[in-house]
Amino acid sequence: MIDVQQVTKRYGHHTAIDRVTFSVAKGEVLAFLGPNGAGKTTTMRILTCFMPATEGTAQVAGFDCAEQPLEVKRRIGYLPETPPVYQELTVSEYLRFVGRLRGLIGGALTASMAREVERLGLGPVQHRLIGNLSRGYRQRVGLAQALLHDPPVLILDEPTVGLDPKQIIEIRELIKSLAGSHSVILSTHILPEATAVCQRVVIISGGRIVAEDTPDRLSARLRHSEKVSLTLARAPRDAAARLQQIAGVQQVHTGGPPGNFLLECQLGRDVREEVGRVAVTNDWGLVELKSISMTLEDVFLQLTRHEEGIAQGTQLAAEPVAAASSATTDSTS
Ligand SMILES: Nc1ncnc2c1ncn2[C@@H]1O[C@H](COP(=O)(O)OP(=O)(O)OP(=O)(O)O)[C@@H](O)[C@H]1O
Ligand SMILES: [Mg+2]
Repeated sequence: MIDVQQVTKRYGHHTAIDRVTFSVAKGEVLAFLGPNGAGKTTTMRILTCFMPATEGTAQVAGFDCAEQPLEVKRRIGYLPETPPVYQELTVSEYLRFVGRLRGLIGGALTASMAREVERLGLGPVQHRLIGNLSRGYRQRVGLAQALLHDPPVLILDEPTVGLDPKQIIEIRELIKSLAGSHSVILSTHILPEATAVCQRVVIISGGRIVAEDTPDRLSARLRHSEKVSLTLARAPRDAAARLQQIAGVQQVHTGGPPGNFLLECQLGRDVREEVGRVAVTNDWGLVELKSISMTLEDVFLQLTRHEEGIAQGTQLAAEPVAAASSATTDSTS
């Protein structure tokens, strides 16, 4: 549905994005994740025909953004970084205006407006001036205008910026509900957002794509080993050596709190059951047993921190796993 091939954008001598290539399938929700200045907005502006690429091609629904911009724009709903709203219009005046620009008239226009007012919870504010609305409501009006003509493709530049936590959850639910029937690209620098709503994540840094995969696989690909944390109340002197003998355990680190062991294990191998059994059988006083996984946040920081070293390719850098202190824990015993 969206196909971006080797797109470069230069502003004078400054290269904002460099040979960016990715695609989005029909019904897929893709997160465009990157720090400030990474090139997210630039890529979206090219896709929405707001400006042309310096090099490369971008296509939406089979139409070229540079050559057939009208066909592309018909199929796109775009929420720019700053919602394109008119302060001096009321919400319904504005939506009526946008709908007419989109070619909607009569009953179709009324029905589309009612659908989006309902979907975005704009009922209580529909007769108020947009200039008097809170930022969150203005953002919702921006989303309503993007959805009004029910486009198959949605390009949302930081859609949850300025919203309160409850609204963030609602908007994420809304985006998730669009999956399947719509192709969505949303940009964000908020990691949980990418994991919460997207099937695939493209990480962009310094204008280059540094990784592309599902949130789960991204974390897995950067991991070199699984880590398990074990805490024993009555650890014998030779506990580390005996833990080391368990199949799948590669290394045992001590030196943390008393009785705590950090086990580095073979990738893809879950040693917790066996470790638990050994600890219980030997009456070592099993207090805690949990796996430590790398979050998408660790992956993101690692990729964007080492941006220079991996700038040459689009493959993931094989850097050592982040320190256990920056990792988070999941399942516990
Ligand atoms: N009109 C412009 N003229 C010159 N440079 C620009 C222009 N627009 C963007 N840039 C530069 O291009 C780079 C990419 O900017 P872009 O706005 O695409 O980043 P972004 O990922 O959207 O960042 P943010 O998270 O802050 O919105 C930045 O270095 C920015 O300064
Ligand atoms: Mg931006």
